[in-house]
Amino acid sequence: MILAIETSCDDTCAAVLDGPRILSNVISSQAAAHEGFGGVVPEVASRHHLELVSPVVSAALGEAGVGLEQIEAVAVTAGPGLIGALLVGVSSAKAIAASRRLPLIPVNHLQGHVAANFLEPEPLEPPFLCLLASGGHTLLAAVRDHGGYELLGQTLDDAAGEAFDKSARLLGLGYPGGPALEKVAAGGDPEAFEMPVAMARDPGLDFSFSGLKTALVYLCRDLGPEGVSARRADLAASFQAAVVGQLTSKLRRALRRGGWDAVALGGGVAANGPLRAAVGELCEEHGVRLKLVPIALCTDNAAMIGSAARYAAPLAYPSYLGYDAFASGERAAA
Ligand code: KG4
Ligand code: ZN
Repeated sequence: MILAIETSCDDTCAAVLDGPRILSNVISSQAAAHEGFGGVVPEVASRHHLELVSPVVSAALGEAGVGLEQIEAVAVTAGPGLIGALLVGVSSAKAIAASRRLPLIPVNHLQGHVAANFLEPEPLEPPFLCLLASGGHTLLAAVRDHGGYELLGQTLDDAAGEAFDKSARLLGLGYPGGPALEKVAAGGDPEAFEMPVAMARDPGLDFSFSGLKTALVYLCRDLGPEGVSARRADLAASFQAAVVGQLTSKLRRALRRGGWDAVALGGGVAANGPLRAAVGELCEEHGVRLKLVPIALCTDNAAMIGSAARYAAPLAYPSYLGYDAFASGERAAA
């Protein structure tokens, strides 16, 4: 039985897992606190995590009907993410674990997104190809076992979700931008505006999204405020189609290299309807199985951290008392 905590960005999350079974998965979104700023303000996020982490952990235990005395290990996102936000989760997890002399399991956030696929009711067994697209990362990973993955390609600049958020802001839509832009795009023509096809000639599996955002800046400047408001749906649809096009074309390239019979999607952008549909078609074309986890497990949550923790190295009490979160890179020192 694992208690997992995730506070890497703007969601305060705690979950209780019994093996691959989710007993509770509590997510307290801070979106409203950041909306007025058009993006996540790190200091505001840290302060909210501080206020929310205890009630969210209590709610997770309560919903699971589990007492702290039944918990065998505490898992926590150690990085990458906003350092102040991560520190709240790591300090809380250390305190809870130490109070009961339990092991602490630090988890890499990206490994968590991959491990969302290992959860019940329909766990996906490696090997599989995983496309991860979130607000902070965009990557293609070869998942050959439960404990890690090989990076096949990643974004060279903005993450796909970041591009959605920035473009939504440019179009005067709310925060977070992805879902707002998808909604508006549903009423637009994806072929109305020609968007640059980034990395099309690049033979590798890396991504680039900053050019798309810049193209949208110029389009909006040329159209002027009235033009933008008249063509908002077409702009959103064209932008979204370009992002989905790039993600699927790199996935197609990876599939053509062969050796895969399953694909998984992860990260917040995996909640995008047109992306899910396009990847679905692609998988059908290639005769591979597509695993789509529920949207609540695509966006940040603690159940995926508890899932990754099952395959990560636990730190025994009291060796983790000096353990630190890490904002980027791989691992902090114990
Ligand atoms: O994985 P996640 O919850 O947090 C990070 O680890 O970043 O991903 C959040 C990102 C945001 O950029 C958000 O705009 C994007 O995922 N997102 C979407 C959709 N829902 C969330 N992007 C496109 N379409 C969506 N429906
Ligand atoms: Zn994430």
